[in-house]
Amino acid sequence: MTSIQTQDYAIHFNENCYTNLNQQIEKKNYTSIFILTDSNTNRFCATQLLSQIETETRIEVLEIEPGEQLKNLETCASLWSALSELGADRKSLMINLGGGVVTDLGGFVACCYQRGIDFINMPTTLLSIVDASIGGKNGVDLGALKNQIGIIKTPTMVLIDTSFLGSLPQRDMRSGLAEMIKHGLINNPKHYKDLQDLSKLTLEDLDRLIFDSILVKKEIVEQDPTEQNLRKTLNFGHTLGHAIESYYLNQPEKALLHGEAIAIGMILESYLSHKILGLDTESLNEIKSLLTKTFGHPKIETSDFENIIELMKHDKKNENGVIKFVLLEKIGNCKINQEASKKLIINSFEFYNN
Ligand code: GLY
Repeated sequence: MTSIQTQDYAIHFNENCYTNLNQQIEKKNYTSIFILTDSNTNRFCATQLLSQIETETRIEVLEIEPGEQLKNLETCASLWSALSELGADRKSLMINLGGGVVTDLGGFVACCYQRGIDFINMPTTLLSIVDASIGGKNGVDLGALKNQIGIIKTPTMVLIDTSFLGSLPQRDMRSGLAEMIKHGLINNPKHYKDLQDLSKLTLEDLDRLIFDSILVKKEIVEQDPTEQNLRKTLNFGHTLGHAIESYYLNQPEKALLHGEAIAIGMILESYLSHKILGLDTESLNEIKSLLTKTFGHPKIETSDFENIIELMKHDKKNENGVIKFVLLEKIGNCKINQEASKKLIINSFEFYNN
């Protein structure tokens, strides 16, 4: 697969990953290489990466516990101490090998260590391949507030070895698929259409869909890296989706993966799009049918509506306390900074449940 060149870094795929990684290591003559990973990331990924690196440079593997609950400043502090104790200097390289927590946190650790060392993202989940690893957002949570502390800085390169996905559970694959469907809905109707029927998907098809999805994100981020306007469109489905994800987080039998919550958020926000921007009924019903077919249809209790709406008031996308949505005018076109009444939001839950 050909590489994708962004304004300041390249995204390489499969066999091209390792050639480009080795060239980079040779060209920059790094003093040491640190691979950050978590104990959930299949051993296969770390073994595969290590077996492909051709260098005499010292390589250290730093392993953190998996999970969002450790994506915080304490984990960063322990990694900065480890880097310091292991003699990392400004010519060290960090490779973030894992899902979104590892790439977000590892990027932030690298950006701050000695005011910044080179870092490469090597995402291992579909979600981090099509979203977290691309676009330069690095950061950690502050208590319950997601990604409150962070910095926008692009990686030296992104390496995507899709063979890592072979060991990813189906549920996690679907979680990544939600962000791909989002890319189609906000920007590329053909990509959305290509994702409608995945029953006969080959590995080559999957690689092409991943490539197309990354292109959508790359083109949006390049035009608006600091999220002043266009990049906000990537939040479609996320205003309600994030609130739903947070609400069910502490209810083990109902907890949703990020993409599963975003899929519900996209149905709810498509309903708002229909009412506010005139998204046509056929598209609305098609979106609901695709997303419920792919992600299931867990009902939201009427007694939960208020609590979820309350949680949206803490969304960091709000301005002056006003909840903002990205809504679709039609498939492939959306508008940022939209507002919706509480009554309409409640109606969207009812539309979803029925
Ligand atoms: N995940 C949305 C963004 O990178 O802007």
